[in-house]
Amino acid sequence: MLGSFSYCNPTKLYFGEDSLNYLNAELPKYGKNIVLIYGGGSIKKNGVYDDVVKILKDSGKNVAEISGVMPNPTVDKLYEGVEIARKHQADFLLAVGGGSVCDYAKAVSVSVNCPEDPWEKYYVRFEEPSCQTLPVGCVLTMVGTGSEMNAGAVITNPHTHQKIGHVFADEKIMPKFAVLNPKYTLTLPHYQMVSGIYDIFNHICEQYFSGEDDNVSDYLSEGLMRSVIHSSRIANRAPQNYEARSNLMWAATWALNTLVSRGKSTDWMVHMLGQAVGAYTNAAHGMTLAAVSLPYYRHILPFGVQKFKRFAVNVWNVDPAGKTDEQTAKEGLAAMEGWMKELGLVMNVSQLGAGAEMINGIADSTLIMNGGYKTLSRDEIVEILKECL
Ligand code: NZQ
Ligand code: ZN
Repeated sequence: MLGSFSYCNPTKLYFGEDSLNYLNAELPKYGKNIVLIYGGGSIKKNGVYDDVVKILKDSGKNVAEISGVMPNPTVDKLYEGVEIARKHQADFLLAVGGGSVCDYAKAVSVSVNCPEDPWEKYYVRFEEPSCQTLPVGCVLTMVGTGSEMNAGAVITNPHTHQKIGHVFADEKIMPKFAVLNPKYTLTLPHYQMVSGIYDIFNHICEQYFSGEDDNVSDYLSEGLMRSVIHSSRIANRAPQNYEARSNLMWAATWALNTLVSRGKSTDWMVHMLGQAVGAYTNAAHGMTLAAVSLPYYRHILPFGVQKFKRFAVNVWNVDPAGKTDEQTAKEGLAAMEGWMKELGLVMNVSQLGAGAEMINGIADSTLIMNGGYKTLSRDEIVEILKECL
């Protein structure tokens, strides 16, 4: 049975090969002072930077830049960007990049006019902004996080070994618009492409593996998962296949834009474990999720057998005839494991640089959620992490 919820997603999407042209229509809606935010230089190599800058110039904007936003953006980089945006008296923030750049732009947006320390306010105390925020637009170049159409902003504090995501409650933090051109993603290295693919898939799992009620979100999730598996196999063999890459881009947005979480308590423990691993290793986000997923799901399977069985049958086409529910459920995870290996995902945390000596620290850094099939104890977290080595 569905409970009560509200739903509003104000992000306007422009999808397709000509989608950047719509920047011309969006920019006049905002003030003159724009801060262009991007990462370590991929957009300069593939020409996206030149195309965006030309449109900004033609529309008469006064542009400052925050460059070098690193994967898993840090709190120190956030402080630096806030200073640049303040000095420039920014009216609008334009993020051009992947999830890190989009997240970072949202973090700057809520911090520019914030008199308090944003790390303490948003990432330690999880408060909502009480100041004026800046509008954000996004030109996406990496597929996976869904940051282009949600209110999440993940920031890493390397000093305290914490990687924390704040999903802001107020939809005004979501990007005002996002430009989704699948062509821009064709220059991604294979490692980043498959990391993003697993991120998409796991976002859906995190929302799917909760609740026992009949819920439309689960049917939507199963369709999205099947589409991701199908397109990922094509993209893995032929990364330049536009059809597959465009479907992955669209699926990523719908996997984490608040739709399939409606009516769900949601799990998110793979992300909590993965983010803690990320805080210690600075590894690519999707790979941290891949490295912890199977030990986690095998651990909680006995507490959610019926859902894992449904996952096996509806997503992985496992035939349940003549098998116990638990056998069918386990075959589903085995099929998922086969697919993960086929894509070349990292299957343990050791390969990401995490060793046994880090387990206690990673466990301390793992936030415990209670929306899934089992609320973990710290001892269980340590046990699972040991299996991830
Ligand atoms: O920095 P550049 O030079 O641009 O290179 C990036 C970066 O090294 C490169 N890249 C991006 N687009 C490219 C490209 N290289 C070639 N061609 C292109 N078109 O890819 C690398 C990774 O980029 P990044 O933005 O870090 O990846 P991703 O999109 O996976 O974002 C990861 C961040 O998002 C957070 C993660 O925790 C992590 O900090 N997440 C945000 C979420 C949200 N907002 O809801 C949810 C997610 O679960 C996730 O936690
Ligand atoms: Zn994720």
